[in-house]
Amino acid sequence: MDNSSDYRSEDSRSVMQSCSSTVCVLILLTTTLTTDSESAVHSVKVNLHDSATLSCSERCSGLVRWTVYHKPTDVLAECDQTSCRSVKEGYQMIHDEYLKGNLSLTITDADFSKRGWYTCWCDNKDVCDVNLQIEPLNTPVQIKPGESLVLKLDILDPVKVIYNSTDAAGPSSGQICTVDGRSTQCKPEYKQKMALFSALELRGTTPSDSGDYIIMDIRNEEVIHIYTVTIKDDQPCPCRDQRAVVPAWMFALTMVALVIVCLVSVVRSLRKRRETERH
Ligand SMILES: *[C@@H]1O[C@H](CO)[C@@H](O)[C@H](O)[C@H]1NC(C)=O
Ligand SMILES: *[C@@H]1O[C@H](CO)[C@@H](O)[C@H](O)[C@H]1NC(C)=O
Repeated sequence: MDNSSDYRSEDSRSVMQSCSSTVCVLILLTTTLTTDSESAVHSVKVNLHDSATLSCSERCSGLVRWTVYHKPTDVLAECDQTSCRSVKEGYQMIHDEYLKGNLSLTITDADFSKRGWYTCWCDNKDVCDVNLQIEPLNTPVQIKPGESLVLKLDILDPVKVIYNSTDAAGPSSGQICTVDGRSTQCKPEYKQKMALFSALELRGTTPSDSGDYIIMDIRNEEVIHIYTVTIKDDQPCPCRDQRAVVPAWMFALTMVALVIVCLVSVVRSLRKRRETERH
C-alpha cells in the first residue's frame, strides 16, 4: 500500500502542495517552534537503496517511538529503558544510543515509497520531525531517430514530466505531461506521441527531441529522475563508415598474418641454431 499519500491531515497536505519542500521545512519549523519549542525539524537526503539515519537528539527516560508523520498509531521502531525493537522490518533504533540521548532511527533501504515526514515521540510528545528525501536518479539515454524514448515513472504518486530542450529548433521547453494513476494529461503536440504503460513512451523521436526529461513529484515538487537524452543518427564510432570498415578489417588480418609468419621464422631459426650448436 502506498502510505505516503494519506498520512497527512488535509490542512497540512494543502500546505505541502502549495510550497516547495524547502519552504515547507521553514513553515513547519515556524509552526513547531511556536507550538513546541523543543521539537527539531530537518531533512535527510540519501541515494536510492542506501540506509538513512533520521537524527533526533533528545533526553527521554520513557518510551520512544518513531512513526510516519501524523500517523502515530503506525509505529516503526521503539525503545524503552530495557530494550529497543523494530516493529516494522527495515526500521531500527539502537539501545546504547537511546541511553545516550541519541534517538536516531535508521532506515536500512531508503526507496521512493519511504519518502516523506517521520516523527519521533517521547512518551507521546512530538520531539523530532524529519523529512526523508531520495537523490534524483540520473540516466543518460542515447537513441536513434524514430526509436521510442521510455521514461520510467519510479513512483505511484502524481508526477509531471518537464522537458528542457538542447535543440533550439526543437519543441519548447517546459511541462509536457502529468501522470496521475492511470491517467495522463499531455500538451497537444505530445498527445499522439506519448503513451502510458508502466512507463511513459515517447514514440517516433527526432533529433530535435534531445534534451533533459525531468520526472517530478507534483505533491512535494521533488525531482525524482532526470533523463539526459541524445537522439542522433551517426554514432561517434568511425567503424560504422563502410569505406573504413573493409581496409581496417583487411589491415588487421594482414597484421595477424605477418605476426604468425614472424613467429614461425623465429622458432625455425632458433631450432636451427640449437641443432648447429649440438653438432
Ligand atoms: C546516533 O545513532 C545512530 C545509529 O542509530 C548513529 O548512526 C549516529 O552516528 C549516532 N549519532 C551520534 C551523534 O552519536
Ligand atoms: C531546466 O530548465 C530550467 C529553466 O530553464 C532550469 O531552471 C532547470 O534547472 C533545468 N533543469 C535541468 C535538470 O537541467
